[in-house]
Amino acid sequence: VQSVPHSALVRWLRGEASLPITLLHLLSSFSDADALLCHLDSSRERVVGDEVGAARLAALRQFAQAHRPGIALVRQMGALHARAEAELPERGVDTLRELYDRLADLDPSAAVALYAFGDARILDEATHEVISYLVDRGILSPSRRLLELGCGIGRLLEACAARCASTVGVDVSPRMVELASARVRHIPNAAAQLGNGGDLAAFATASVDVVLAADSWPHVVMLGADTMIGLAREVARVLVPGGEFVVLNFSYREGEGRDLADVRRLVSLLPFEIVEQALRPFRLWDAVTWRLRRGVG
Ligand SMILES: C[S@@+](CC[C@H](N)C(=O)[O-])C[C@H]1O[C@@H](n2cnc3c(N)ncnc32)[C@H](O)[C@@H]1O
Repeated sequence: VQSVPHSALVRWLRGEASLPITLLHLLSSFSDADALLCHLDSSRERVVGDEVGAARLAALRQFAQAHRPGIALVRQMGALHARAEAELPERGVDTLRELYDRLADLDPSAAVALYAFGDARILDEATHEVISYLVDRGILSPSRRLLELGCGIGRLLEACAARCASTVGVDVSPRMVELASARVRHIPNAAAQLGNGGDLAAFATASVDVVLAADSWPHVVMLGADTMIGLAREVARVLVPGGEFVVLNFSYREGEGRDLADVRRLVSLLPFEIVEQALRPFRLWDAVTWRLRRGVG
Protein backbone atom coordinates (compact mmCIF):
# COMPACT_ATOMS: atom_id res chain seq x y z
CA VAL A 1 0.00 0.00 0.00
CA GLN A 2 1.44 3.40 -0.98
CA SER A 3 1.35 6.21 1.57
CA VAL A 4 -0.52 9.44 0.79
CA PRO A 5 2.67 11.53 0.38
CA HIS A 6 4.20 8.89 -1.84
CA SER A 7 1.22 8.54 -4.19
CA ALA A 8 0.48 12.30 -4.30
CA LEU A 9 4.10 13.03 -5.15
CA VAL A 10 4.24 10.29 -7.80
CA ARG A 11 1.10 11.68 -9.45
CA TRP A 12 2.65 15.14 -9.52
CA LEU A 13 5.94 13.83 -10.94
CA ARG A 14 3.99 11.96 -13.66
CA GLY A 15 2.04 15.10 -14.52
CA GLU A 16 -1.25 13.55 -13.38
CA ALA A 17 -2.27 16.20 -10.83
CA SER A 18 -2.07 19.97 -10.52
CA LEU A 19 0.22 21.77 -8.09
CA PRO A 20 -2.56 23.00 -5.77
CA ILE A 21 -4.20 19.57 -5.56
CA THR A 22 -0.85 17.86 -4.98
CA LEU A 23 -0.04 20.27 -2.18
CA LEU A 24 -3.48 19.75 -0.63
CA HIS A 25 -3.09 15.95 -0.64
CA LEU A 26 0.44 16.14 0.72
CA LEU A 27 -0.67 18.39 3.56
CA SER A 28 -2.87 15.70 5.09
CA SER A 29 0.35 13.86 6.07
CA PHE A 30 2.44 16.69 7.52
CA SER A 31 2.06 18.80 10.63
CA ASP A 32 3.19 22.05 8.98
CA ALA A 33 4.94 23.62 5.98
CA ASP A 34 8.42 22.94 7.40
CA ALA A 35 7.78 19.21 7.73
CA LEU A 36 6.42 19.13 4.19
CA LEU A 37 9.38 21.06 2.75
CA CYS A 38 11.73 18.73 4.58
CA HIS A 39 9.98 15.73 3.01
CA LEU A 40 10.30 17.30 -0.45
CA ASP A 41 14.01 17.88 0.11
CA SER A 42 14.52 14.29 1.15
CA SER A 43 12.65 13.18 -2.01
CA ARG A 44 15.36 14.65 -4.27
CA GLU A 45 17.17 11.32 -4.41
CA ARG A 46 14.13 9.88 -6.19
CA VAL A 47 14.65 12.14 -9.17
CA VAL A 48 18.41 11.86 -9.54
CA GLY A 49 19.18 11.61 -13.27
CA ASP A 50 15.61 12.60 -14.16
CA GLU A 51 15.72 16.21 -15.35
CA VAL A 52 11.98 16.61 -15.80
CA GLY A 53 11.26 14.99 -12.42
CA ALA A 54 13.81 17.22 -10.69
CA ALA A 55 12.27 20.32 -12.29
CA ARG A 56 8.76 19.24 -11.21
CA LEU A 57 9.95 18.55 -7.66
CA ALA A 58 11.60 21.98 -7.53
CA ALA A 59 8.41 23.62 -8.83
CA LEU A 60 6.38 21.88 -6.13
CA ARG A 61 8.81 23.02 -3.45
CA GLN A 62 8.65 26.59 -4.75
CA PHE A 63 4.84 26.50 -4.83
CA ALA A 64 4.71 25.21 -1.24
CA GLN A 65 7.21 27.84 -0.10
CA ALA A 66 5.26 30.63 -1.82
CA HIS A 67 2.01 29.46 -0.22
CA ARG A 68 3.18 29.16 3.39
CA PRO A 69 0.42 31.44 4.75
CA GLY A 70 -2.12 29.50 2.66
CA ILE A 71 -0.82 26.23 4.08
CA ALA A 72 -1.36 27.46 7.64
CA LEU A 73 -4.86 28.61 6.66
CA VAL A 74 -5.73 25.28 5.05
CA ARG A 75 -4.51 23.35 8.09
CA GLN A 76 -6.71 25.50 10.32
CA MET A 77 -9.69 25.02 8.01
CA GLY A 78 -8.98 21.29 7.72
CA ALA A 79 -9.19 20.98 11.50
CA LEU A 80 -12.55 22.80 11.49
CA HIS A 81 -13.82 20.47 8.73
CA ALA A 82 -12.73 17.40 10.72
CA ARG A 83 -14.44 18.63 13.88
CA ALA A 84 -17.61 19.44 11.96
CA GLU A 85 -17.64 16.01 10.30
CA ALA A 86 -17.51 14.37 13.72
CA GLU A 87 -20.41 16.52 14.99
CA LEU A 88 -22.49 16.23 11.85
CA PRO A 89 -24.39 12.98 12.59
CA GLU A 90 -25.72 14.50 15.80
CA ARG A 91 -26.22 18.16 14.84
CA GLY A 92 -26.88 17.96 11.09
CA VAL A 93 -27.35 21.16 9.08
CA ASP A 94 -26.59 23.42 12.07
CA THR A 95 -23.02 22.11 11.95
CA LEU A 96 -22.66 22.97 8.26
CA ARG A 97 -24.13 26.42 8.78
CA GLU A 98 -21.70 27.19 11.60
CA LEU A 99 -18.74 25.62 9.79
CA TYR A 100 -19.20 27.66 6.63
CA ASP A 101 -19.98 30.88 8.52
CA ARG A 102 -16.66 30.43 10.32
CA LEU A 103 -14.71 29.49 7.18
CA ALA A 104 -16.13 32.47 5.28
CA ASP A 105 -14.87 34.79 7.99
CA LEU A 106 -11.41 33.22 7.94
CA ASP A 107 -10.92 33.46 4.16
CA PRO A 108 -13.75 33.47 1.58
CA SER A 109 -11.80 31.93 -1.32
CA ALA A 110 -10.19 29.12 0.70
CA ALA A 111 -13.60 28.52 2.33
CA VAL A 112 -15.09 27.39 -0.99
CA ALA A 113 -11.97 25.70 -2.37
CA LEU A 114 -9.23 24.66 0.05
CA TYR A 115 -6.93 23.97 -2.90
CA ALA A 116 -6.91 27.71 -3.71
CA PHE A 117 -4.80 28.24 -0.56
CA GLY A 118 -6.39 31.68 -0.30
CA ASP A 119 -4.83 32.65 -3.64
CA ALA A 120 -7.41 34.48 -5.78
CA ARG A 121 -5.58 33.58 -9.01
CA ILE A 122 -5.89 29.87 -8.31
CA LEU A 123 -9.57 30.21 -7.54
CA ASP A 124 -10.15 32.26 -10.71
CA GLU A 125 -8.45 29.59 -12.80
CA ALA A 126 -10.56 26.88 -11.17
CA THR A 127 -13.72 28.92 -11.75
CA HIS A 128 -12.75 29.38 -15.38
CA GLU A 129 -12.33 25.64 -15.98
CA VAL A 130 -15.72 24.89 -14.41
CA ILE A 131 -17.37 27.51 -16.64
CA SER A 132 -15.64 26.08 -19.75
CA TYR A 133 -16.91 22.61 -18.81
CA LEU A 134 -20.48 23.92 -18.42
CA VAL A 135 -20.35 25.88 -21.68
CA ASP A 136 -18.65 23.13 -23.73
CA ARG A 137 -21.36 20.63 -22.74
CA GLY A 138 -24.15 23.08 -23.54
CA ILE A 139 -25.23 23.08 -19.89
CA LEU A 140 -25.14 26.88 -19.85
CA SER A 141 -26.95 28.72 -22.61
CA PRO A 142 -28.70 32.11 -22.87
CA SER A 143 -32.20 30.67 -22.38
CA ARG A 144 -31.42 28.51 -19.35
CA ARG A 145 -32.24 29.26 -15.70
CA LEU A 146 -29.68 27.95 -13.22
CA LEU A 147 -30.02 27.14 -9.55
CA GLU A 148 -26.80 26.61 -7.63
CA LEU A 149 -27.21 24.46 -4.56
CA GLY A 150 -24.57 25.50 -2.01
CA CYS A 151 -23.45 28.66 -3.81
CA GLY A 152 -20.87 29.72 -1.21
CA ILE A 153 -19.39 33.14 -2.00
CA GLY A 154 -21.18 33.25 -5.38
CA ARG A 155 -18.11 32.98 -7.64
CA LEU A 156 -19.93 30.54 -9.97
CA LEU A 157 -23.21 32.49 -9.81
CA GLU A 158 -21.32 35.56 -10.96
CA ALA A 159 -19.46 33.74 -13.73
CA CYS A 160 -22.56 31.87 -14.96
CA ALA A 161 -24.85 34.91 -15.00
CA ALA A 162 -23.47 36.28 -18.29
CA ARG A 163 -24.01 32.90 -19.96
CA CYS A 164 -27.58 32.09 -18.98
CA ALA A 165 -30.99 33.66 -18.43
CA SER A 166 -30.78 33.71 -14.63
CA THR A 167 -28.75 32.33 -11.76
CA VAL A 168 -30.01 31.86 -8.22
CA GLY A 169 -27.89 30.48 -5.44
CA VAL A 170 -29.06 28.88 -2.24
CA ASP A 171 -26.84 28.16 0.75
CA VAL A 172 -27.27 27.13 4.38
CA SER A 173 -24.65 29.59 5.64
CA PRO A 174 -25.97 33.14 6.26
CA ARG A 175 -22.43 34.52 5.98
CA MET A 176 -21.97 32.85 2.59
CA VAL A 177 -25.32 34.21 1.38
CA GLU A 178 -24.24 37.68 2.51
CA LEU A 179 -20.96 37.41 0.57
CA ALA A 180 -22.64 35.96 -2.53
CA SER A 181 -25.37 38.63 -2.47
CA ALA A 182 -22.75 41.39 -2.21
CA ARG A 183 -20.81 39.85 -5.08
CA VAL A 184 -23.76 39.73 -7.48
CA ARG A 185 -25.56 42.90 -6.34
CA HIS A 186 -24.83 44.67 -9.65
CA ILE A 187 -25.87 41.69 -11.78
CA PRO A 188 -29.61 41.93 -12.51
CA ASN A 189 -30.10 38.23 -13.32
CA ALA A 190 -28.24 36.81 -10.30
CA ALA A 191 -29.21 36.44 -6.65
CA ALA A 192 -28.47 34.37 -3.57
CA GLN A 193 -30.76 33.26 -0.77
CA LEU A 194 -30.69 31.27 2.44
CA GLY A 195 -31.85 27.66 2.37
CA ASN A 196 -32.57 25.10 5.07
CA GLY A 197 -30.34 22.40 3.58
CA GLY A 198 -33.16 19.87 3.33
CA ASP A 199 -35.55 21.15 0.67
CA LEU A 200 -36.00 23.71 -2.11
CA ALA A 201 -39.41 24.90 -0.95
CA ALA A 202 -38.72 28.46 -2.11
CA PHE A 203 -38.54 27.26 -5.73
CA ALA A 204 -41.55 26.42 -7.87
CA THR A 205 -41.98 23.04 -9.53
CA ALA A 206 -40.40 22.87 -13.02
CA SER A 207 -38.93 26.36 -12.69
CA VAL A 208 -35.23 25.81 -13.50
CA ASP A 209 -33.26 24.20 -16.33
CA VAL A 210 -30.05 23.38 -14.45
CA VAL A 211 -29.27 22.59 -10.84
CA LEU A 212 -25.56 22.81 -10.13
CA ALA A 213 -23.98 21.36 -6.99
CA ALA A 214 -20.28 22.28 -7.04
CA ASP A 215 -18.58 20.67 -4.04
CA SER A 216 -21.73 20.95 -1.95
CA TRP A 217 -23.29 17.50 -2.50
CA PRO A 218 -20.61 15.79 -0.34
CA HIS A 219 -22.14 17.64 2.62
CA VAL A 220 -25.60 16.48 1.66
CA VAL A 221 -24.28 12.90 1.54
CA MET A 222 -22.80 13.40 5.01
CA LEU A 223 -26.26 14.39 6.27
CA GLY A 224 -27.42 10.83 5.59
CA ALA A 225 -29.35 8.86 2.98
CA ASP A 226 -32.79 10.26 3.88
CA THR A 227 -31.65 13.88 3.46
CA MET A 228 -29.74 13.02 0.31
CA ILE A 229 -32.69 11.30 -1.35
CA GLY A 230 -35.10 13.98 -0.11
CA LEU A 231 -33.00 16.79 -1.56
CA ALA A 232 -32.48 14.92 -4.84
CA ARG A 233 -36.28 14.55 -5.02
CA GLU A 234 -36.52 18.31 -4.58
CA VAL A 235 -33.97 18.81 -7.37
CA ALA A 236 -36.09 16.61 -9.65
CA ARG A 237 -39.18 18.62 -8.69
CA VAL A 238 -37.72 22.05 -9.47
CA LEU A 239 -36.14 20.94 -12.76
CA VAL A 240 -38.07 21.08 -16.02
CA PRO A 241 -38.28 17.79 -17.95
CA GLY A 242 -34.99 17.54 -19.84
CA GLY A 243 -33.28 19.74 -17.24
CA GLU A 244 -29.93 18.75 -15.78
CA PHE A 245 -28.58 18.08 -12.33
CA VAL A 246 -24.80 18.62 -12.47
CA VAL A 247 -22.83 17.36 -9.50
CA LEU A 248 -19.15 18.25 -9.21
CA ASN A 249 -17.97 15.86 -6.48
CA PHE A 250 -20.71 13.58 -5.23
CA SER A 251 -18.91 12.78 -1.98
CA TYR A 252 -15.45 12.79 -0.46
CA ARG A 253 -15.44 9.01 -0.06
CA GLU A 254 -12.49 7.01 -1.34
CA GLY A 255 -13.01 5.64 -4.88
CA GLU A 256 -16.19 6.02 -6.94
CA GLY A 257 -17.93 2.74 -6.06
CA ARG A 258 -20.21 4.05 -3.32
CA ASP A 259 -21.01 7.20 -5.29
CA LEU A 260 -22.03 5.10 -8.25
CA ALA A 261 -24.23 2.93 -6.01
CA ASP A 262 -25.91 6.07 -4.62
CA VAL A 263 -26.38 7.57 -8.10
CA ARG A 264 -27.98 4.32 -9.31
CA ARG A 265 -30.26 4.38 -6.29
CA LEU A 266 -31.34 7.94 -7.10
CA VAL A 267 -31.99 6.96 -10.71
CA SER A 268 -34.09 3.99 -9.57
CA LEU A 269 -36.19 6.14 -7.22
CA LEU A 270 -36.48 9.42 -9.11
CA PRO A 271 -37.09 10.54 -12.72
CA PHE A 272 -33.41 10.88 -13.60
CA GLU A 273 -31.18 9.26 -16.18
CA ILE A 274 -27.39 9.26 -16.05
CA VAL A 275 -25.73 11.43 -18.71
CA GLU A 276 -22.20 11.47 -17.35
CA GLN A 277 -20.64 9.46 -14.58
CA ALA A 278 -17.41 9.69 -12.61
CA LEU A 279 -15.33 11.77 -15.03
CA ARG A 280 -12.38 13.97 -14.06
CA PRO A 281 -12.51 16.65 -16.75
CA PHE A 282 -10.54 19.40 -15.01
CA ARG A 283 -6.84 20.18 -15.19
CA LEU A 284 -6.56 22.11 -11.93
CA TRP A 285 -9.38 20.76 -9.74
CA ASP A 286 -9.62 16.99 -9.23
CA ALA A 287 -13.42 16.97 -8.97
CA VAL A 288 -15.32 13.90 -10.14
CA THR A 289 -18.28 14.96 -12.29
CA TRP A 290 -21.78 13.49 -12.60
CA ARG A 291 -24.70 14.65 -14.72
CA LEU A 292 -28.28 13.47 -14.35
CA ARG A 293 -31.03 14.44 -16.80
CA ARG A 294 -34.55 14.82 -15.53
CA GLY A 295 -36.91 12.73 -17.59
CA VAL A 296 -40.62 13.25 -18.05
CA GLY A 297 -42.79 11.82 -15.28
C1 LIG B 1 -17.14 23.94 -0.64
S1 LIG B 1 -18.36 25.19 -0.65
C2 LIG B 1 -18.60 25.41 -2.41
C3 LIG B 1 -19.30 26.70 -2.74
C4 LIG B 1 -19.56 26.94 -4.23
N1 LIG B 1 -20.39 25.91 -4.82
C5 LIG B 1 -18.26 27.06 -4.99
O1 LIG B 1 -17.87 26.07 -5.65
O2 LIG B 1 -17.64 28.11 -4.93
C6 LIG B 1 -19.82 24.29 -0.18
C7 LIG B 1 -21.01 25.20 0.12
O3 LIG B 1 -22.19 24.39 0.21
C8 LIG B 1 -22.99 24.87 1.26
N2 LIG B 1 -23.87 23.75 1.67
C9 LIG B 1 -23.51 22.59 2.24
N3 LIG B 1 -24.58 21.78 2.39
C10 LIG B 1 -25.64 22.46 1.90
C11 LIG B 1 -27.02 22.16 1.76
N4 LIG B 1 -27.55 21.01 2.18
N5 LIG B 1 -27.83 23.07 1.18
C12 LIG B 1 -27.32 24.27 0.76
N6 LIG B 1 -26.02 24.60 0.87
C13 LIG B 1 -25.19 23.71 1.43
C14 LIG B 1 -22.00 25.34 2.31
O4 LIG B 1 -22.56 26.24 3.22
C15 LIG B 1 -20.90 25.96 1.43
O5 LIG B 1 -21.13 27.32 1.21
